[in-house]
Order: sequence, then C-alpha cells, then structure tokens
Amino acid sequence: MEEPIGLNAGLTNYGDPEFALFLRKAFIKGAGFSDDALDRRVVGVADTRSGYNPCHANIPTLIEAVQRGIMLAGALPISFPTISLHESFAHPTSMFLRNLMAMDTEEMVRAAPMDAVILIGGCDKTVPAQLMGAISADVPAIQLVVGPMVTGSHRGSRVGACTDCRGYWARHRAGEIDLEEIAAVGNELVPSAGTCGVMGTASTMACLAEALGISPLGSACPPANGSQRLRVAELTGKLAAQGLPRPSAVLSRKSFENAITVLQAIGGSTNAIVHLLAIAGRVPGLNLSLDDFDRIGRSTPLLVDLKPSGSAYMEDFYRAGGVPTLLHELRPLLHLDALTITGQTLGEALAAHKVFAQDIVRPLADPLYSAAALIVLRGNLAPSGAVLKASAMAPHLRKHRGRAVVFSSADDMLARIDDPDLVVTKDSILVLQNIGPVGHPGMPEAGYTPIPKKLARAGVKDMLRISDGRMSGTASGAVVLHVAPEAAVGGPLAAVRDGDEIELDVETRRLHLDVEEGEIQRRLGEWAARQGRGRVGRERPRRGYEALYDQRVLQADRGADFDFLTAEGN
Ligand code: FES
Ligand code: MG
Repeated sequence: MEEPIGLNAGLTNYGDPEFALFLRKAFIKGAGFSDDALDRRVVGVADTRSGYNPCHANIPTLIEAVQRGIMLAGALPISFPTISLHESFAHPTSMFLRNLMAMDTEEMVRAAPMDAVILIGGCDKTVPAQLMGAISADVPAIQLVVGPMVTGSHRGSRVGACTDCRGYWARHRAGEIDLEEIAAVGNELVPSAGTCGVMGTASTMACLAEALGISPLGSACPPANGSQRLRVAELTGKLAAQGLPRPSAVLSRKSFENAITVLQAIGGSTNAIVHLLAIAGRVPGLNLSLDDFDRIGRSTPLLVDLKPSGSAYMEDFYRAGGVPTLLHELRPLLHLDALTITGQTLGEALAAHKVFAQDIVRPLADPLYSAAALIVLRGNLAPSGAVLKASAMAPHLRKHRGRAVVFSSADDMLARIDDPDLVVTKDSILVLQNIGPVGHPGMPEAGYTPIPKKLARAGVKDMLRISDGRMSGTASGAVVLHVAPEAAVGGPLAAVRDGDEIELDVETRRLHLDVEEGEIQRRLGEWAARQGRGRVGRERPRRGYEALYDQRVLQADRGADFDFLTAEGN
C-alpha cells in the first residue's frame, strides 16, 4: 500500500509543479470543492454508463454507493467517463471496439491524478477492456461489476438473456413458435438492469475477476438490482480509499491459473479465453498460452449447473453462495497462496466465507461433466489452435467426420444457409471463413452458424460448425471457434472447399482437414494471389481506428490485442 498523492500526481504540464497544482486546485474549486475535500487521497471512478448500454443502467446508484464507501474511509471520489460497450449496440462488433476501450481506460487513468481507480464495468467486453487498460497503466485498481440481471417469466417458465433468447428464436425458426409469442417473450428476457443472467461472457468475466483476485471475494454474483450489490459497491469504495496494491503486484501466473480453473469449473464462455489471453498479455513475463487452458481443463471438472452448460441462472448461483462456494469446492486445484486485492491470500480471504448445503455448485466428487468443459484443438486446419465448448455440444459429434459446406463470409452464409437447394445433411460440417479478427473485422459472434432451416424443421438440433470467429457465451452446440491463423490472413481455413472431408476428435483434440498438404498449399497460393491480407471482397481500410485495427490486431491465440499494447510489444 502506498502513501497518498491526491491531486499532486503527474504535475509536469506547465514545467512549474507548484503553479500546476495551484491551477488544478483553482479549476476544481469551480465545481465547489473545499480545501478540506481536496487535501486527501483521490479515488478515481471509471463510469461506463451510456444510454446505449442498458446492462449498465444501474451505474448511477452504484456510483452513489461507491462514493459513500470512499468518503466513509476519508478519501475523495472523482468519477470520470470512459467508453461504454454493449453487445447489441456496438457496430460492427463490441470486440472490434474492446481494444479502443482498453486504450481509453489506460490513458484516462494515467492522465488524471488518482491514488487508486475503481473500474465499473460488466457487459461482455467492458471488464476485459478495463483490466487490460488498468494493468498497462499500473495504477492501483479494483474491478466492480454491475452484477447480473434477474430472471423473467414467460407463460410459467423462467427465462433469462440470452440463452433463452436463442432457444426461443431457434423454436421460432423451426416454426414451433409464432410471431405473437416471440414478441411476448421479448418483454421478459431482460427484466432488469445488469448483465445477462446466465453463464455468458459477462458473468464469466465477473467470476474470473474474482478468481484473479482483482475484485473483492463474493462480488461477482449479487444481482444488479439488489441491496447486496450496493453493499459490494460500498465495500469496493472503502477498499480503494484505504489503499490498494497495483495490478502488477496482484496478478501473477498463479492468479491466472486460478482463473482458468474457475473458467473450466463454471463451463464459462469461450470468449473468456480470448480475453484472459489479452489481459495476461499485458502483464510482463506472464506468457499465458492456449495450452495452459487445455492442460488445466484436463484436471478440472464442470461443477456449476448454469445455462448454457447446465440449467440454472446467476441469481441461483448467488443464493448458493456464488464464487466463494465454488472456490471452496475447488480448493485442491487452486493456488491458495495467490494474492488478492485486499492484500490477503486467496486462502485467507476464503476462510471468512462459510459453506452450506446448496444444489448449484456440485462437489468435486460428483461433477456435472468430468473434465475439460473448454478444450483447445489443433491440427492442419488450426495450426495455432481453435477452441470448443465440449460441455455444451451433442455427444454424438465428439468424434465426427463429414463433408464441408463452405461459406466465404457471414454475408454469404446469411444469403444461402436457408436456401432449400443448399446441399447439406445433418452430418455435413458448416465451415464459415473470414469472420476472424482481421476478416470481418472484429471477430463477430457469428460462429454460431444457425442450423439450416430445412434441417431444423426435420428435428436436427446440433451440427458441427467451424469458423475463425467467436460465439456468444450464452450459446451452445458443437461449434469450433477462434481457428488460428484466420482465413483472412491466409490460414488453412481459407483453403477449405465444398465437399472436403474434415475430422474432429475431441478425445485427441484433433481438427484435421483431409486434403493432401501439397494441395492445401496450392490452394493457399491461389488465395494469396487473389486477395492478400484484408477483408474479403473489400479494400483494406485506410483511415481511423479501423485502419489501426486492421494493421495491428493479433490473432485469437494472442487475445486479439494490438501488437503494440502487449507487455512484449512495448
Ligand atoms: Fe450486456 Fe449480455 S448484453 S451482458
Ligand atoms: Mg455475449
């Protein structure tokens, strides 16, 4: 913990530090502050509210509670805005803008004087972006999530975003549900502020922030609209005011391994793999790789019975004691000596949480799924790796061989997927190219290719799908994602053609394109002559953030961060 610096930090802008402080105080007094208020530790509060981000609609009340905590501990809160990203309101994808939000957070935290910063985020990309930025700024930081939404009710069934959004929409596509019913369920899927109420990306990242030690223990699961969420906010304010360690002191390889253990045990979002790689990539010397996820997964069972891998919702996980209940169960698999934000080790912090009988977190000895909910595949189709949520796929597809039906872009897929003349069977493999980080750009969640309508109507529920894109953490199915290198930079995925045979074997982690190596190279040579690096059928972008993104984004196995922002890159 460090000495207060208050408003004195970073006073170099006028050459005369005393004059700079005089001006700084003179200006902030314009907002009505007294010397008594200003002569204290300052806690910055990163405010990500936005009219375009309904998941963050409770931030005004959270800030009030955070400020109460900060002031009760004798420091001064100063909030400031940063970019806010919502999944449905960020074109072309929220992932495209994640690195921009990380840069904004890093630079705003660095620009203004603050002894510590509270990062308020929640919707999918916001927590990774805030952690990436805060690690690079290396200002003492603590993450506060907005909390999950509660569930709604549709004709007697509990519903929640967004696994049930997909389930109802798939039934609508299959002709089981009419327009009137789909409109009615649309009123109930998002019944409160907060993040999606299942184990999607937002909930996953909230749980991982707790496991990393950068959020207070017990802070991921309290619902966004409940009183405990406000007490978590008040506590976060107090902790920040009392003094926090820097991210570089909290985050170690052990904390990331703990986070991966939790990711596997919650059957978390595949997106979290990309985000954890990006977050870890900001920490000097950490060198986290895809292989760490597969290795840890092999000895970690799936214990938490939440959608989309299981059946319950985040509010149920909260009532079952949330992440601390899970961490107690996982004790033999965790590094209990990893540091947390309070300065205690994880083991010490856990000792304060009592366990009780509940039915959401299963015991280690009786898991929902024995091991490896999320796996890493390799083979000539994905030399730098691909990921698959094996816990959420139809078991008959775990070892599968079939013929490729290839779509060259998301637009091509949309134009043809429901064509009654499309040559496709339930054993076909739907291959979608050019939706990777460079390809689309921004790696959209289009990897969840819908089952062609004619097959859906015939009762087909799952098919093997392969792409270089992502899928929503709330989705499920035999969907191979994040194939690296991606098609748009000349990865082997670009060489796949209709009718090629592809083999998946979950057991051996193999993803194989059954085409001779010479032929693959010949096709890739043709591909290179045709288009070079860039988005299919379009000019490479030349201006603004899009050009920066196109030139500097890394592949999925490196977290899709910018090369010049990683710890190695600077
Ligand atoms: Fe914000 Fe799901 S859309 S968390
Ligand atoms: Mg999502």
